[in-house]
Amino acid sequence: MRVCIVGASGKLGKYMVQHALDRGHEVVGVCREESVGKLDAYKGRITVVAGPTSDRDVIEQAVAGCDGVLVVLVPRGVHGYSTGTAQAVLDHAPPGARIVFSCGWHITRDGKDVYPWKLRAVVKVFGPVARLARFADLDDQVEACRRVFASDTRWTVVRGSDLEEGPSQGLPVWSRHVGDPILESNITRRVDFALFMVDALENDALVHEAPAIVSRQSPSALAHATV
Ligand SMILES: NC(=O)c1ccc[n+]([C@@H]2O[C@H](COP(=O)([O-])OP(=O)(O)OC[C@H]3O[C@@H](n4cnc5c(N)ncnc54)[C@H](OP(=O)(O)O)[C@@H]3O)[C@@H](O)[C@H]2O)c1
Repeated sequence: MRVCIVGASGKLGKYMVQHALDRGHEVVGVCREESVGKLDAYKGRITVVAGPTSDRDVIEQAVAGCDGVLVVLVPRGVHGYSTGTAQAVLDHAPPGARIVFSCGWHITRDGKDVYPWKLRAVVKVFGPVARLARFADLDDQVEACRRVFASDTRWTVVRGSDLEEGPSQGLPVWSRHVGDPILESNITRRVDFALFMVDALENDALVHEAPAIVSRQSPSALAHATV
């Protein structure tokens, strides 16, 4: 499979590059000009397209001929970086390509998620402060995902819980709604978030789903898993 990774130089992106290479995929990574050096470890093994991920020309060039596109959606800045990135991918990914986006649990597809008070507090406090400081705009990621949900492309939106570093614990488990008991532990290894994204490329059962994920080894997953 030829796979484009949009946001390849970040923590999640680099894990996805490694998983994709491990699976024998051909990888095209997109990252900002100043971050190209973060991908030096993969020199000669991946193609790098440098530029803002919200730049339509950059994305058009990077996704050409790809069977799959993995997109790190980050609400950085206050100028629609996430929305621009998502729209460029939706418009330029080849017809029929699998497109997998990352975001956080705070994104809801149908409004039926029930959030822990801590997450509600973080969104309520961090949201306005981050916007005021022009650091990030959570609403930008919300709008980006709204556009994805409305799209007739073959999308999946993977909603990450709180993240931690550490060795892999295997493919995370998922549920449609935050608040479901299996998700209660609210923790996933970042390396496994990336694994779920890469695995979703070849899992058609996840097309038009917005799975909320949690570590397979977390107490809530162990207590409620059915398989
Ligand atoms: N962090 C969490 O606890 C958490 C929890 C749940 C879900 N998530 C989701 O997981 C995904 C990855 O998040 P992460 O926190 O782990 O971070 P990450 O993987 O390190 O990704 C951060 C991304 O933001 C880009 N970035 C940094 N500064 C930027 C700027 N000023 N303008 C534009 N882009 C900039 C980075 O690109 P450069 O390499 O070019 O800097 C990188 O691609 C996101 O979709 C996030 O919503 C995160």
